[in-house]
Amino acid sequence: MGVFETVAVALWAMLPAYVPNNAAVLAGGGRPIDAGRTWNGRRLLGDGKTWRGTAVGTLAGAALALILNAAEPTVSDLLGVALPTFPLAVVVALPAGAMLGDIAASFLKRRTGRERGAAFPGVDQLDFVVFALLLAFLAAPDWFGDVFTVPVLAVVVVATPVLHLTTNGIAYALGLKDEPW
Ligand code: CTP
Ligand code: MG
Repeated sequence: MGVFETVAVALWAMLPAYVPNNAAVLAGGGRPIDAGRTWNGRRLLGDGKTWRGTAVGTLAGAALALILNAAEPTVSDLLGVALPTFPLAVVVALPAGAMLGDIAASFLKRRTGRERGAAFPGVDQLDFVVFALLLAFLAAPDWFGDVFTVPVLAVVVVATPVLHLTTNGIAYALGLKDEPW
C-alpha cells in the first residue's frame, strides 16, 4: 500500500469514530450520566457527559458509517484506492467505542482531581481512538486485521491528535465549545 492509500484508508476507517465527539458537543445538555453522583467527594463523570450527547454522538457516527458504506464504490473509484466498508457490528462499535473512551477519560480526570473542562494532554486526544479500535476489534476481528494494518494504525495515532485539536479549535473559535481541547 502506498502512502496516499494508507492515509486515505486510515482517515476513512476512523471517520465514524471522529464524528461522535463533535456531535456530542453540539447536542450536549440535559441529564448527566452520573446523575450528580460523587465518589470520594468528586463527581463520578461530571456534567460534561450527558445521555443526550452520548446518544446523539453514537447515532451520528453510526449514520455516517452507513453513508460511507453507500458512498464507498464511488469514492474508491475517484481516489483510485480500495477503501473499506463497515460491517454492521463495526457501524455501531466505532462510534460507541469513541463515546465510551471519552467517558472513561472523564472518569479518569475526576479521579485525578481535574475539574470539568480541564485539559489532560494525550488522554484527551487519544482516549476515544483506543476504545473505538478496541470495540471494533472485538466486534469484527478479521475485518479489523484486514483494515487496521500496522501502517494504517501508525497514521491513525499520528493524525488523530492533529485532527482532534484542529476541530476542537474551530469549535472553540465558533463558540460551540468552552475550551479549545
Ligand atoms: N458532551 C456530552 N456528552 C458526552 C460528551 C460530550 O453531552 N458523552 C458535551 C457536553 O456538553 C460537554 C461538551 O460536549 O461539555 C464537550 O465535551 P468534552 O470536552 O468531552 O467535555 P468537558 O465538558 O470538557 O468535560 P470533561 O472534563 O469531563 O471532558
Ligand atoms: Mg473537554
